[in-house]
Amino acid sequence: MAQNTLTTEPSMAAFQRGLPADLINLHSSHPAPLSAQQLAHITRLDFAAISHALSQDYAPVIGGEELRRAIVTAHYEVIDHDDILTTCGAQEALFITMQALLQQGDHVVCLTPIFEPLYQQAKMAGAQVETVPLLADSQWTIDWPALRQAVTDSTRLVIINFPHNPIGCHISDKELTDLVNLCHQHDCWLLSDEVFRGLEHQTKTRLPAAVDCYDKAISIAVMSKAYGMPALRLGWIACRQQQMRDRIITVKRHLSICGSRLDETVAQQLLPHSAKIFNHHRQQLSKNRRQLADSLQYLPHLQVHLPAAGATCFVRLQANQKAAAVTGDDFARQLARQQGLLVLPNSCFITDTPGFRLSIADAAMADHYPQLMIDP
Ligand SMILES: Cc1ncc(COP(=O)(O)O)c(C=O)c1O
Repeated sequence: MAQNTLTTEPSMAAFQRGLPADLINLHSSHPAPLSAQQLAHITRLDFAAISHALSQDYAPVIGGEELRRAIVTAHYEVIDHDDILTTCGAQEALFITMQALLQQGDHVVCLTPIFEPLYQQAKMAGAQVETVPLLADSQWTIDWPALRQAVTDSTRLVIINFPHNPIGCHISDKELTDLVNLCHQHDCWLLSDEVFRGLEHQTKTRLPAAVDCYDKAISIAVMSKAYGMPALRLGWIACRQQQMRDRIITVKRHLSICGSRLDETVAQQLLPHSAKIFNHHRQQLSKNRRQLADSLQYLPHLQVHLPAAGATCFVRLQANQKAAAVTGDDFARQLARQQGLLVLPNSCFITDTPGFRLSIADAAMADHYPQLMIDP
């Protein structure tokens, strides 16, 4: 396991080092970005007018008030704009939150597989991180007995990420309530990474934000994932407790004086169109998901629990097939060398279940699904 310092290379970067640079990316977790034309069509906005009206000054460290109001209107029911702090993407939001929330030796519980920074950044903040694996053979559901055993009165923080990266699974309303109750019972914080909220393949499965359900929950979201706009470096932290927000702002001040006013201004214009943008992505993701399902019948060495939300799923290598002898890392490396395709192996997601993250983000990716095989 990697050491917990800022100079430890993230597994995703380490895995890709040494691989050819021109591989076809089949692992992206954000939906295919809209073209400028599509965006103008969906929103009817005149983007040229935005840059003309732009102030060239620093923005407020917590994000402009109008932007934070637009975020709340688009995403939350209970909290208000004073509960929001903007960041440079969700990665920075996670880093700031972990540093503000955690101290050396704090007990943290997270579910695996997991988007690695959610685990690694808690460790970098000095925490002891206990992992509770999702049940791979039961459609990646939560192992409730194991989770209830792991979370105790000494636990400082529980970390969740639903809709889930890399699995693409989701939880029910009842499970969210049970998670909140578990944290409440042990008086611990709940960090909910909600960057894929809005990309549920069926809208009725969209859950309330954790921060709206529990006063010790922190919700994190971003323009990169549900909106498919990683070019806008805008994420945010939603937190109801003033004292914790003050700590969060203090950490942020060490990283950046403020966010990009240009990104914030564009995001502010786009947020009122959230539903239409999510809808566009949802339709494309559902199409690609069907194409993946069709391809799978010709790929007996692979097993996929089809995603219910988000733009990725986790492909398991079947134990009874030729590919059984290889690890996720070997498979992904051979796939890169033999087929020119890039997927990320299980080692990037803190799980021993052999397999890899596969994207359903883009129609062009789906054409390559039949090539997901190697000659071991
Ligand atoms: C679950 C999750 N959280 C946070 C992030 C970071 O988002 P950003 O790239 O916008 O900083 C990602 C990026 O892949 C992610 O998948």
